[in-house]
Amino acid sequence: MADTHKNYIDGSWQNPANNQTTPDRNPADTSDIIGRFPLSGPADVDAAAEAARSAFPEWRRTPAPQRGAILKESGDLLVERKEEIARAMTREMGKPFFETKGDVQEAIDTAFYAASETRRLFGHTVPSELPDKFNMSIRQPVGVCGIITAWNFPVAVPSWKIYPALAAGNTIVFKPSEYAPHSGALFIQTLIDAGLPEGVINVVQGAGEAGQALVEHPEVDAIGFTGSTETGTSIAETCGRLNKQVALEMGGKNPMIVMNDADLELALEGVTWGAFGTTGQRCTATSRLIVQDDVHDEFVDMIEEEAQKLTLGYGNDDEVDMGPLINEQAFEEVSRYVEIGQNEGATLAFGGQQATGDRLDDGFFFEPTVFTDVAPDMRIAQEEIFGPVLSVFRVDTYEEAIDLANNTDYGLSSSIYTQDVQQSFHAMRELEAGITYINGPTIGAEAHMPFGGVKGTGNGHRDGGWAAFDVWTEHKTVYVDYSGELQKAQMDSVDE
Ligand code: UN1
Repeated sequence: MADTHKNYIDGSWQNPANNQTTPDRNPADTSDIIGRFPLSGPADVDAAAEAARSAFPEWRRTPAPQRGAILKESGDLLVERKEEIARAMTREMGKPFFETKGDVQEAIDTAFYAASETRRLFGHTVPSELPDKFNMSIRQPVGVCGIITAWNFPVAVPSWKIYPALAAGNTIVFKPSEYAPHSGALFIQTLIDAGLPEGVINVVQGAGEAGQALVEHPEVDAIGFTGSTETGTSIAETCGRLNKQVALEMGGKNPMIVMNDADLELALEGVTWGAFGTTGQRCTATSRLIVQDDVHDEFVDMIEEEAQKLTLGYGNDDEVDMGPLINEQAFEEVSRYVEIGQNEGATLAFGGQQATGDRLDDGFFFEPTVFTDVAPDMRIAQEEIFGPVLSVFRVDTYEEAIDLANNTDYGLSSSIYTQDVQQSFHAMRELEAGITYINGPTIGAEAHMPFGGVKGTGNGHRDGGWAAFDVWTEHKTVYVDYSGELQKAQMDSVDE
């Protein structure tokens, strides 16, 4: 087994204690097996958590800019290995090479951002209410952090959590998705090669059993999770019981509004990328399209024409625009939603089938799919499908559009296409989402900006930029009383 096909614990690549492995398959060609990867159990999590605990005291005392220098080096190595990692990622999880290069680029941007942040990590210095007393707050690491992520952004999303957590002085146990273990391992290899001390980062490959052991482990102080709402909610329950910090990024049912006055060509490019980019397998995917009456029919026709131009195939082939779904289970799930939509009475405008043809029969390819006449309470209007399926709604007014956009349990991303300044600013305030795009699709977050959602999407935390440091640090409040007397706050400061 190649090293990066194993677990990485306490400075060495090693086989799982239970010797169990699972094959990692190319979703565009299921006969192509990348390798076998560990299906780790609690013993591996235990070893990794102990290693992270032992490494913590020294790492937290390492001057933050020295930690930053290692992150910067990891970013430089990602630059060098960008194509190699992107090729491996496309082979492993299916999105086209131009998208996987973007995934690695997002990690590069995050590395450089987090590295530079190690020279800031600001606290506050504020006046005291008492004489000869100094008040400040400083940021300290939380401790050992467990990071559990999905397969769709197998380098970018882990990097959003791992780089700021390391910058702040935490140590880590990382469990990549069992559907993209290799990409995660190749990313971690850049940190190892950059000189991260042993035990500071550990990788435990596996599925639910390893994830659960990580969440429950007494040495793990905080959990960062990106994935399904179902898994995230159950993690939050466990963390609540154990009084453990947890930051969650979960599902989305992201709306794009297109008003009568919108630049339709621009909106067309936006919706094609938003709904069918990454085969719709993004938490930020545009999955609801809300179109004002006058342009509805014309715009749906435009989407159909554009979708027909998309070339499906193996993403490492040059001309490919859209890759396969991740696995058979996803394929069945998306097919099931098409059936549900039809049974609910929506109109299948186009798509809805397995995509067949030259070289498509070996993978999980699905046609770009659009439903029209979708009613707000249908399941295809409410539930995250995680595939190239777009539900289209027709509305009369701007107010109706906003109400419909907000008629969801999720709140990750949102978008409106309009030329109207008043409506744009109104929508910025009224759309219930962590992200609002004006004249851009719902996808495409930048690495230095806060990323996350409201309502059922998250639990009040953000990845990305300065906001991620709130997840991975604790505020320590420090008072220095140099009066030489006992001064009682709240009492001595008030003149009775
Ligand atoms: C995700 O699907 O979990 O903004 C993250 C975007 C990407 C990240 C998506 N940069 O769509």
